[in-house]
Amino acid sequence: MERPVLDRVTEPREDVPFGVYVHWPFCLSKCPYCDFNSHVRHVAVEQDRFARAFAAEIATTAERIGRRTVSTIFFGGGTPSLMKPETVGAVLDAIARHWTVAPDAEISLEANPTSVEAERFRGFRTAGVNRVSLGVQALDDDSLKALGRLHTASEAMAAVGTARKIFDRYSFDLIYARPGQGVAAWAAELRRAIAEAAEHLSLYQLTIEPDTPFEALERAGKLAVPGDTIARHLFDVTQEVCAAAGLPAYEVSNHARPGAECRHNLVYWRYGEYAGIGPGAHGRLLDPAGRRFATATERRPEAWLAQVEAAGHGLVVDEVVTRPEQADEFLLMGLRLTEGIDPKRFEKIAGRPLDPARIADLMSYGFVESMPNGRLRVTRSGFPVLDAVVADLAA
Ligand SMILES: C[S@@+](CC[C@H](N)C(=O)[O-])C[C@H]1O[C@@H](n2cnc3c(N)ncnc32)[C@H](O)[C@@H]1O
Ligand code: SF4
Repeated sequence: MERPVLDRVTEPREDVPFGVYVHWPFCLSKCPYCDFNSHVRHVAVEQDRFARAFAAEIATTAERIGRRTVSTIFFGGGTPSLMKPETVGAVLDAIARHWTVAPDAEISLEANPTSVEAERFRGFRTAGVNRVSLGVQALDDDSLKALGRLHTASEAMAAVGTARKIFDRYSFDLIYARPGQGVAAWAAELRRAIAEAAEHLSLYQLTIEPDTPFEALERAGKLAVPGDTIARHLFDVTQEVCAAAGLPAYEVSNHARPGAECRHNLVYWRYGEYAGIGPGAHGRLLDPAGRRFATATERRPEAWLAQVEAAGHGLVVDEVVTRPEQADEFLLMGLRLTEGIDPKRFEKIAGRPLDPARIADLMSYGFVESMPNGRLRVTRSGFPVLDAVVADLAA
């Protein structure tokens, strides 16, 4: 059915960077705080079969959107470091068969920092991966145990050391605002982490997700995470310590030396185009008519596999994103960035300008600011209430 012209946004597709996200949905065990699409299997995963299904889904997506230059590829999970290097290589080959991979493409893979996985790093590098992101989470064994992690702190640091030798670019993740964690202890842990970091760190405040064991523990009064005031101090100290070390935030939870930002994540936050491949992957695809589609695939790995083998794709959602929806998404993504958003691009997408009265109101609270280059961004005081700021601007 032909969609109304209102759904179209005339941003030339060539101007919008294109990335490919590949989801590996398996983990060795399920962490009690995690609500990502990750599954534990007690039989060997049929990696060759998954590799063929990934290739089929890539082929179907390429047929739909046509030739594109891929600027970033990201293997996320789950635990993609459980993939065999051959599986990673097969996926990269399929991407290169159907699209043009830019010579300087960023190809990232999320890895859990156990010694077994670090042994595969060389293979991942040979397959074409040029950046790894390690889920270190904490630098002491008691905290790692409380988070249900399978690695020790020294094992994680050894994995970081291996990554440093093999990859030009690596990052690692830490989770803060953990039960019982105070500001001074976190600042000290963060300084130790920075000493091991190179160009990038992801620092996530622990969130208690619905239907996770952590939520049940919290409800039962057996797990106490820092309250809002301490969480706010933890956030502030994170910004200060990282900025002082030359790793300023470029997004709410991401810090990098200037120029070393994760380019794949920037594709999302700058509202680019991306294909979501694999179980439970989300995509945003542009068609030649200027329409933007939201896609999502079947989350259950075996059901996804069966659907791809029968139909060539695992899509369960494939919908036009209307212009008002695009405008909301653009704000939701772009205002996470310290570079903020370009109000003129908002106008192009939304078909209307941002409301100056609402901006003035948010400015009077110190939540947003205009930059000399004309962009609008959320301030440090605005970040803890980001959702409310976005809702207000989008209304
Ligand atoms: C999808 S995980 C994949 C990485 C890898 N499987 C691992 O756990 O090391 C990406 C990151 O999200 C973060 N994360 C997951 N659940 C979280 C939660 N409830 N609160 C804060 N951070 C979380 C962790 O830091 C994790 O490294
Ligand atoms: S290893 Fe990573 S993806 Fe898997 S359950 Fe733990 S946090 Fe989630």
